[in-house]
Amino acid sequence: MSNTEVPAELHDDAGRVWAAHVSAASGLSLRVRFAEQPPPRTTFPRLIVKHPARTLTLSGCRLVGEDDQLVFVDDVYDCHVLIDQGRLKNLLGFFNELPLVLAQRTEVTEGFRGFVADLIYDLTVYKKFFDEQDRTFSKEAPHVGVAAQEILLRRAGPEFFRFLDANLDKLAALVREFTPEQHERHGYYFRQQLWPFIIGSAIMERTNLKPRGYAGDATMMQMIYDNRYEGVWAFNKLMHKHPVQSIAAEAVRSRRVLLPRLLKAHLDSSDARPYRVLSVACGPARELEDILVGGGVDPQRLDVTLLDQDDEALAVARSTIERVGGPRKLSLVNDSVRTLLRRKGAVERWGQFEFIYSMGLFDYLTPPVAKAVLARLYELVAPGGALVVGNYHQKNPGRFYMAYWCDWVLYYRTEEEMLALTTGLPEARVTVGYDATGCQMILRVERAA
Ligand SMILES: C[S@@+](CC[C@H](N)C(=O)[O-])C[C@H]1O[C@@H](n2cnc3c(N)ncnc32)[C@H](O)[C@@H]1O
Repeated sequence: MSNTEVPAELHDDAGRVWAAHVSAASGLSLRVRFAEQPPPRTTFPRLIVKHPARTLTLSGCRLVGEDDQLVFVDDVYDCHVLIDQGRLKNLLGFFNELPLVLAQRTEVTEGFRGFVADLIYDLTVYKKFFDEQDRTFSKEAPHVGVAAQEILLRRAGPEFFRFLDANLDKLAALVREFTPEQHERHGYYFRQQLWPFIIGSAIMERTNLKPRGYAGDATMMQMIYDNRYEGVWAFNKLMHKHPVQSIAAEAVRSRRVLLPRLLKAHLDSSDARPYRVLSVACGPARELEDILVGGGVDPQRLDVTLLDQDDEALAVARSTIERVGGPRKLSLVNDSVRTLLRRKGAVERWGQFEFIYSMGLFDYLTPPVAKAVLARLYELVAPGGALVVGNYHQKNPGRFYMAYWCDWVLYYRTEEEMLALTTGLPEARVTVGYDATGCQMILRVERAA
């Protein structure tokens, strides 16, 4: 619990203002220290918190306990967020928005509603079938039940996957021409309706709930790289396996083949010792495993720097590398690429690199930010070095799967849009290629020696 105290003013019914300091007493209450103590059990219709970040006005609260604690009487505020971040998080906020959210339904097309209703019916039937089998298996000894479920997954799984694929085709046909606003509205409607099925899938539960604040965190990436069944029940296992084996997920896995190949080809043509590598938005850095083991590269020639905004991603990356044995030197940088834009002097701080790559980052950046970040990364490329950037193509067949089911929305680009990011880079030789799935473009920018 934070002990931080913040100045505040409490306004009573008589119009008197009581100066005080408040801190978080619990998740939903405040500790209060008055300059002059008001009468016991006073109710204050208004509380003003003068947080260093901003001044916040809160609704009514009342003195309780030893008259040093405040509970709210009209709203339920998150007091940790209030004191630690200077932000108002009203836990009933969603309730106030309910009329707006409910009204969204009227904007959903008839065709889409019919599609969703049929999908729910069919999924319910499939789920009932799989759950009934699991119920029978659970009466057996574990090794017998496990063996029976494996047969079920092998025999009935492909049919269920064909059903899911056919519905993804129907979804794409319905929404392909939608505007961004229509996508947002229909996607929201879709996920509300399909929620009981979505939360059965380990990956889709996580992409939707976003416990690290964004889709694509290291745990999700590991699930995609692992491409295994997860869960206990057959239905949930299938609902997880289908997205992690989809073509968009295959494009993620293709990075593990592509990057070692590109890096080795470049390293073999370079005299640099050490050979400095920077991975930007490294995530779990699974491809490093393939570079360091069996990549045909001497790890002792490599100095590797990994940058990510998420310390949990860096911790996963570190353990990946420790497992396989490290390069000559490993540096972890917990920072956002946005710092590169705000703060000059990255070359002085980090030096330059022979090989820089960034996979799964530019898909999150708007065109102006992507262009600015690319220019900054190019400054970090040593003469003769290469910068490799991945971005899903606009025609990625998995985009509606990701957006509607997974609530994972990306900036898709065309070849022209990708090339446009590189205009004005001095002494750059630029090419755009594709990964093995064709979903993901690979931009390559080489600096003249
Ligand atoms: C989709 S994952 C890709 C991870 C890894 N490159 C891969 O291909 O497996 C995206 C990663 O980008 C990181 N990221 C997102 N925005 C970032 C930013 N502005 N600066 C640095 N890292 C960022 C996230 O923390 C996350 O680890």
